[in-house]
Amino acid sequence: MKGPTGGNRTGRKLGQKIRKRGKIKASSRRWLERHINDPYVQRAQLEGYRSRAAFKLLEIDQKHGILSGARRIVDLGSAPGGWSQIAARVTGSTDAAPKVAAIDFLEMDPVPGVAFLQMDFLDDAAPSALIEACGGAPDLVLSDMAAPTTGHRRTDHLRTMHLCEVAAYFAVDVLNTGGHFLAKTFQGGTEAALLTMLKRSFTSVIHVKPPASRAESVEMYLLAKGFKGKPADDA
Ligand SMILES: C[S@@+](CC[C@H](N)C(=O)[O-])C[C@H]1O[C@@H](n2cnc3c(N)ncnc32)[C@H](O)[C@@H]1O
Repeated sequence: MKGPTGGNRTGRKLGQKIRKRGKIKASSRRWLERHINDPYVQRAQLEGYRSRAAFKLLEIDQKHGILSGARRIVDLGSAPGGWSQIAARVTGSTDAAPKVAAIDFLEMDPVPGVAFLQMDFLDDAAPSALIEACGGAPDLVLSDMAAPTTGHRRTDHLRTMHLCEVAAYFAVDVLNTGGHFLAKTFQGGTEAALLTMLKRSFTSVIHVKPPASRAESVEMYLLAKGFKGKPADDA
């Protein structure tokens, strides 16, 4: 998928500046300017996605084909719901028989077809609640979880890496054979032991950086495809 270019059917001009000087902190001003001038943000509005993050998943899928064939999907760290919208569409999930379970400790406006749990994924009760919510074992576990920022970069990285690791162990515990796992990580951040575990459990394990992930960000995604299934003594 090509990234959105300067095209601008929202009627908003790219390259806009925030005028109210003095009232907004410089860092907030920079964030706002980048946000309103971001073609992915504008495209998300046009196409009805709740987040620009939706395009990261769509771009990864276009290159690596992880969505088609997924009968049930778990979406970890789902708010505001862009990935959940895509997951509901590809599974044909409905509120009467949800095939997508999503979790976030923040609130999320309802997404049709998505069973949403407002809780911490690190809560012991989360894994079984998720599987119950989507009606059985998933074929795809997605994690876009990022720990809330503390301002201390190293701490933030370690916390997000911990979320990635817990998500990975959850995935190998619950996935159907042949299923896939996609999780947010950081450049150079994935622990060797975690990679070894994933390489043992999946046919292929790679790091990907979709065009929608900002070039200046150290964000990457860990993609493990083709779950080999649980060892016989584990099943
Ligand atoms: C980048 S956002 C996800 C965006 C989402 N993929 C979308 O398309 O709209 C990351 C989310 O992870 C959530 N998160 C972080 N740690 C979490 C945890 N321990 N349990 C549940 N959600 C968590 C945050 O609250 C945040 O909403």
